[in-house]
Amino acid sequence: MGIDIGGSGIKGAPVDLSIGELAEERIRIDTPQPSTPSAVAGVAAEIVASFSYDGPVGCTIPSVVKHGVVATAANIDDGWIGLDGRELLERSLRTPVTLLNDADAAGIAELAYGAARDVPGLVCLLTFGTGIGSALFADGTLVPNTEFGHLEFRGGEAEDYASARIRKDENLSWEDWGVRVGEYLRHIERVISPDLFILGGGVSRRLEKFEQYLECSTPIVPAQLRNNAGIVGAALAASSQ
Ligand code: BGC
Repeated sequence: MGIDIGGSGIKGAPVDLSIGELAEERIRIDTPQPSTPSAVAGVAAEIVASFSYDGPVGCTIPSVVKHGVVATAANIDDGWIGLDGRELLERSLRTPVTLLNDADAAGIAELAYGAARDVPGLVCLLTFGTGIGSALFADGTLVPNTEFGHLEFRGGEAEDYASARIRKDENLSWEDWGVRVGEYLRHIERVISPDLFILGGGVSRRLEKFEQYLECSTPIVPAQLRNNAGIVGAALAASSQ
């Protein structure tokens, strides 16, 4: 089973790992505000209890996670920082938990079932939403917690220049936003020279609106798993612990 903890919603469902799809319709509950660890863990427990599921659970969080300990909190309450989130969730869900970064989970799902499947070399998945999440794979091995959304770029952080949130907040046209995303991709190209970019997040469904503005020499493809990549990747990560 996978649970995707985000800044606005917490979503979860059991996953059929043989095909990488949800085994039952997912449940979504608004993220409690403030999104303190105990409030979020309570919602996660409620979601697990809604299914007759008994087994390990994978949870994503929009944070750097090192061995279960949460190190950053970009879109959730600061109370998570420094906390052993895995231990908290295991107590709350009463089952073994794997806790990992949300973009890393989406990347794990794309690697197993989607756009990164059987792709050799260096693959970089970027998710465009409130922030920019990143997942990096070298010949199929995840390099966790890359955080390319926080690269310093144009005098600030990249996700404050080119995330999907900025497109809306600044009312940018697809062209203006696409040009920004292209600049950002070229910056990442200079740093890591990837073989493939996979673009995820809601905007990946609208790639035809802005792909013509993405001037960059690395091939670019949309993510294939769409909304449920986090849930599927988290479940897969939990099953392989
Ligand atoms: C966070 C990342 C996260 C990304 C997408 C960023 O602000 O720092 O950990 O993967 O947002 O949610």
